[in-house]
Amino acid sequence: MLNQTSTDAPFDPAALHVPAELDASLRERQAWISPKFLYDPLGSRLFEAICELPEYYPTRTEAAIFDLHGAEIARTVGSGCTLIDLGAGNCAKAASLFPLLRPRQYVPVDISAEFLIDAVARLQQRFREIEMRPVGMDFSRDGWDLPDFVREERRLFFYPGSSIGNFTPEEAREFLQRVRARCGRDGGLLIGVDLAKDHAVLDAAYDDALGVTAAFNLNVLNHVNRLLGADFDIRQWRHRGFYNAAQGRIEMHLEARSAQTVSWHGASRRFEAGERIHTENSYKYRVDNAVRLLEEAGFAATRVWTDPREWFAVVHARAVAH
Ligand code: AVI
Repeated sequence: MLNQTSTDAPFDPAALHVPAELDASLRERQAWISPKFLYDPLGSRLFEAICELPEYYPTRTEAAIFDLHGAEIARTVGSGCTLIDLGAGNCAKAASLFPLLRPRQYVPVDISAEFLIDAVARLQQRFREIEMRPVGMDFSRDGWDLPDFVREERRLFFYPGSSIGNFTPEEAREFLQRVRARCGRDGGLLIGVDLAKDHAVLDAAYDDALGVTAAFNLNVLNHVNRLLGADFDIRQWRHRGFYNAAQGRIEMHLEARSAQTVSWHGASRRFEAGERIHTENSYKYRVDNAVRLLEEAGFAATRVWTDPREWFAVVHARAVAH
């Protein structure tokens, strides 16, 4: 259990808020689950599979931008940086840039520490000259900080994949402000941003024919069952993923197939048939809105690279002196 303390298990205050946070969000009138809980070890693997899907264009579109403009990106950011990879996952995106960026230190950060440590162990064999220091941390919360071993010189935060879209614009601004505060004097940010586009393309990307995104979404209930000791019956829920044009975002929900009562430690809740649990938003930006958001957070965009269809943007921004 996460919130158990004993003499043989180290006290982990960071673990304590997890059940409380989940418990609270499941009790709200419109129940919701934070998208960070999508990434248990199986969820991380399902997300890797999503990135391979024909419908899910962001990963390959961003990779094509890096392929086409890699040399220019490297010239813009310079070599020998401290590369801090937020939400590193399997570290593949950053690794594809190592030959160009030649970072001095690589600091992959992810909430799924187990998955990260395996990935870094494999990567270190390929790039022995780069110092790699993985950090298991929930950087989506306020109050995170980098360990002392992270070099302060020339920090480049790397936030690809349009994970910024999983925050509301207000949360995104606050998050970027926190990143800015950790950039140091000569730091910067290389960020991927998914752009607004044809709604049918967006709908298909988040509700694919194979049902991989459905499995990814439903698996959050497995994770919640483990974290909370809950008894969600996954077969009683279905995936919903669609573009909400009024909000400018993809929404993912889990919808109850039948009326049911779900219990967890000290609580229970009845869900009516058709009732939904909101699990994720994925905001889609216009380039000018993304640049403005960065400016509001204390960055100045130096370059923007996009693909020929303008479906995705990679932005380099430098930290503006306070
Ligand atoms: C991680 N994040 C940027 C993905 C997205 O597209 O919002 C998560 C995802 N959810 C469903 N498919 C992919």
